Formats: sequence, C-alpha cells, structure tokens
Amino acid sequence: MNACLRAVVRKAISSNLEVVGILRGYQGMIEADFIELDSESVSNIIQKGGTVLKSARSNEFRTPEGREKAAKNLRDQGIEGLIAIGGDGTLAGAAVFYNEHKIPVVGCPGTIDNDLFGTDETIGFDTALNTAIENIDKIRDTADAHDRLFLVEVMGRDAGFIALHSGIGGGAEVVMIPETLTDLEDAKTSIHALMSQQHRSSIIVIAEGDEIGGATDIAKMMREDVRFDDIDLRVCILGHTQRGGSPSARDRVLATRLGVAAVEALIGGHANVMVGIINNVVKLTPSKNVWSRKKSINYELWGLTQLLS
Ligand code: F6P
Repeated sequence: MNACLRAVVRKAISSNLEVVGILRGYQGMIEADFIELDSESVSNIIQKGGTVLKSARSNEFRTPEGREKAAKNLRDQGIEGLIAIGGDGTLAGAAVFYNEHKIPVVGCPGTIDNDLFGTDETIGFDTALNTAIENIDKIRDTADAHDRLFLVEVMGRDAGFIALHSGIGGGAEVVMIPETLTDLEDAKTSIHALMSQQHRSSIIVIAEGDEIGGATDIAKMMREDVRFDDIDLRVCILGHTQRGGSPSARDRVLATRLGVAAVEALIGGHANVMVGIINNVVKLTPSKNVWSRKKSINYELWGLTQLLS
C-alpha cells in the first residue's frame, strides 16, 4: 500500500494536483483526519509493509449519516476526487459513497486475498504468498526430520488463492480451498497411503475459509480416524505473518503501476471505477462489478495440485 501511495502522490504532484492523505481510511474521512502530502512525505516508504496512512474498520461509514459527514469534510477541505486502496469492503464502500455524494472515487485493489474481480493480482498477494511459501519450506524441515504430517493454515476467509499458489509453490501433498469441495475421506486415504509407503512426511495446505473448516477442525477430524493413530500430526496457523513485511519486487511494481493509473483515471474524468491489470494491461472496471462478481481461481493450477501430490 505504501508503494501505491507513493506513486499516487508523485504522479498527482507531477500533474499539478494537490494531495491530501486521509488517516485511518473511511473513519478518518468522518473525523476529518487529513494531512497534506508532498513528494518528500512519501520518501523512504516503498520498502515498508503496512500503510503509513494507517487503516481502520469504520462502522459509522456503513451508515448514511456517517457518509454524509465524510462527504462534507471532503468538500470543506476542497477535495475533488478520492483514491481508495483496499479490498472488497473498501471498494463496496467507495461505490455506495459515490452513488450518494457524486464525489469521484477510483479504487486500487489492495488485499492479500487476491479475490477482487477486475485485476489479475491485487497489491499484497505476492508478498503474502512468498511469506507463506517461505514458512512452508521451514515447516517441511521439521516434517521431514520427524516424519510428521503438518496441516498448514494460510489466510483466505472466502478465497483460496494464497492456499492454491503456496500449495503448488511449497509442494504440498494436498491443498484445500473454499472454491472446490473438499473430500476429506479422499484426502485422508491418500495421505495415509503416502505416509505408510514412500513418504514419511506430508504437508496439507488449507485456506482458513475452507468449507469443511480450518486446520484445527480438520486436524480434529483426522485424529478421530484410527488410521491416523500412528501418524504424528501437527497444526501450524500462519495467520497475520502473511499480512506484513517488506513488499516483494513484484508487489512494488504492481502497486506503482496501479497508483499512477488511478491518478490518470481521476484526471481522465472517471468515477466509481477500480484500476486493475489484466494480461499486463491497465484496465478500469466499474466498482460494482469488483465485489459483486466472483473472481475465479485458475482451475488449471487446481488440476496441478491433483496431479502432482
Ligand atoms: O486481508 C484479508 C484477510 O487476510 C482474510 O483472509 C482474513 O480472514 C482477514 O483478512 C483477517 O483480518 P482481521 O484479522 O483484520 O480481521
């Protein structure tokens, strides 16, 4: 998000625009928590995780009264256009806000979950994925040394992008994601067969939002099966480690391109759209499509998890 903010500020300044930063997202809009941003204020942030503008969930912005206050504050400050960086909640809020107050809003897709329609990748996904794979590699050392089965839970409340990609990149024996029906019997049979034959260790990567449960639930179900009595099973939940850290090169480039594109979209008179990159080309998608349409996982990749385990 910092790389995106830096690009927005510097592109806007080079286009003779003034930039105001809103602290803590929509809540900061309601509380008029604004700061002037110049080129210097975004120096030395491209390599930093998180967001220097901070982030917050705002229940008040979910109400028409809250949005009314936010719109008044923007007008009082002379703000003529808004760039909102975030996931489905942020972009859904942006669309409602535009429809009510007609202040142009351009969204930038920022979520580790990669679950936004209108862009091949979202800001943060690649960094989170690399963190997940790095950790899976480390876990494999213990799994191998101790002949253990590890159930590794990665983030993805409603989406399996991190699980699918990290499962492939980390060489997981089984991957479980909410987009496909998990057949626990089948998974148990193949893991049991693997572990009692050539493989003495295995890794299952599970998206936290898999429809049969997270890693803790699935471990419980496995332990209830007598075939797993002799299998040394451990759970590791990667959790919020995936939401921080210095961004990957790929994320920095993506965020920079999207930040510049968002400013260009506002200058070009677009409102109520999200900028994305599809097949390496910048595209604008109407905001309502971004959260109302479901982005599909890559089923070719899913097929690979079935083939290679
Ligand atoms: O950023 C998206 C996401 O990572 C989900 O996959 C996850 O369930 C959620 O955020 C957790 O966020 P929080 O702990 O802030 O509620």
